[in-house]
Amino acid sequence: MNSFEQEIAEALAATGSFEKDAALKLISVPPDTTHGNFTIPCFSLAKVMRKAPKMIAEDLAAQVKLPAGLSKVEAVNGYLNFFIDRGFLAKSTLDEIAAKGLNYGHAEPNGKVVCIDFSSPNIGKELAFHHLRSTMIGNSLSRIYKAAGYKVERINHLGDWGTAFGKLIVMYLREKRPTDQATLDSLTVKELNILYAAFSKVSKEEPGLEDEARAAFTKLEQGDEFYRTLWTAFRAATLKELMRIYDMMGVGFDHYTGESFFEDKIPAILDELREKNLMVKSQDLDVVMLDEFDLNPCLIRKSDGSTLYATRDLAAANYRMKEYNFDKCLYVVDLGQALHFKQVFHVLKKMGREWYKNMYHIPFGVILQMVDGKWEKGKTRTGTASLLRDVIEAAQKKILEFIDQKNPDLENKELIARQIGISALTFNDLKNSRLKDVRFDWDAVMSFEGDTGPYVQNAHVRLCSIMKKAGYTVPVAEADYSQLTDDAAYSLINLLAKKGEKILAAVKDDEPSVLAQYALEIAEAAHKFIHEDRVLGSAEEKSRLFLVQSTQIVLENVLDLLGLFPIRQM
Ligand code: ARG
Repeated sequence: MNSFEQEIAEALAATGSFEKDAALKLISVPPDTTHGNFTIPCFSLAKVMRKAPKMIAEDLAAQVKLPAGLSKVEAVNGYLNFFIDRGFLAKSTLDEIAAKGLNYGHAEPNGKVVCIDFSSPNIGKELAFHHLRSTMIGNSLSRIYKAAGYKVERINHLGDWGTAFGKLIVMYLREKRPTDQATLDSLTVKELNILYAAFSKVSKEEPGLEDEARAAFTKLEQGDEFYRTLWTAFRAATLKELMRIYDMMGVGFDHYTGESFFEDKIPAILDELREKNLMVKSQDLDVVMLDEFDLNPCLIRKSDGSTLYATRDLAAANYRMKEYNFDKCLYVVDLGQALHFKQVFHVLKKMGREWYKNMYHIPFGVILQMVDGKWEKGKTRTGTASLLRDVIEAAQKKILEFIDQKNPDLENKELIARQIGISALTFNDLKNSRLKDVRFDWDAVMSFEGDTGPYVQNAHVRLCSIMKKAGYTVPVAEADYSQLTDDAAYSLINLLAKKGEKILAAVKDDEPSVLAQYALEIAEAAHKFIHEDRVLGSAEEKSRLFLVQSTQIVLENVLDLLGLFPIRQM
């Protein structure tokens, strides 16, 4: 459907008074619809048209041919106001929802490919609470892009290579732990965490240990078989726990191509940098100078031959281009890595990869927690960041307490409590523009009131329970749209009609918050509709139930696009 704005602009252009684009610029959508759904202030036209604004509005109102779906046009004090025909809006919107179902508002496939690199934690450690941000922003973006018609490649660029593994190897051998295959297979990430902490402690007293770790990593890079076995075991142990948490959160990837995956693809990059004379020595490092872009040199290789984070990202970018032929490649990584990505993108530019322009760092702010009355960054006072699995468990427990009070006999209540808990954490991360820091306040995040996950989920549950109580579904032919024109029904339908534009707006700015705010608006309008227009037992039962069904479909999909669980009862 062409938007009303487009059609109004065309109708105005047809009067011969101005160009369509000029008309389009003048149209505004007032928040209060008593004076129309679309308004054109005629004041700026007075000079060109040599007429008083009031006259202009009146003349236009008389000349313009009303596009279909609008009920009237009115001139008021220099404003030209258009009103939507509520019955028409109800019909065109709800018919389409019935026809398309959960895919309502989605775009047709556009033939474009987007790579989304998200979550991408460093292996050998457990997921910390702050990893939630990249994971859930990336997860939501991948769903939103798909709805906008893209083919999406979800990539986990695991940090599974680097000196950290040297540290683990050194500590593992130093503690003389068994290295038979059975023991290695049963390693857990918890043990690795302990090992890691032990290394940090010991290396403070024995500075030589750091060198040992670096040497161990170099040996690993050079292909030492025994070290490779240890590394494989460490990687598998962390991956197992990682998958458990992703499963719980409903997050999935198409590719787990971590940093180690690019080891054998790095020599070609180094050769090319050398051939193109881009690599220079700086102290004992090989670097690419980026002075012309006002950036510090990008570090490519250390004197012992070991490669760096940026080198692996260069190889990864080339691989992604070759393998997926992307139109866009997004990196959902915290703001702290802004320089790193600028450097990588500009090295690609110097290598002649014109597609470097299609690579975007999608940064986000940090999670702040209240410590002694002050908002502090991600860490608790003891200096250890809280683990994501602990936060999820605590969220589940809190919701379960609530369910035990209100609805103790609920089936599957443990699972539902966990899903509400995870959704609450997610919603809190997504509800504001991603660059903003997230203030994490347990009680507010888990509340069923206010702009929270439980609030939007509860709206969905209410819609589902009305449908369940009704015990039947209304087919599209049986809804009488003229019964859906009162204010509460109209406001709700008007929102549902915007789903497609909201998806595109979220893609345009890579902002899941657009849809999070949209979910809140729908929840609020749905509550209001249910409250003001009694559904079951009313004379308009069928039509209203049809609107309830339509709203449920839209809300379910919007929750899904955000990565929240659209549960049906709580
Ligand atoms: N592993 C990195 C970290 O935890 C994030 C990786 C992001 N992706 C990338 N291609 N560099 O900081």
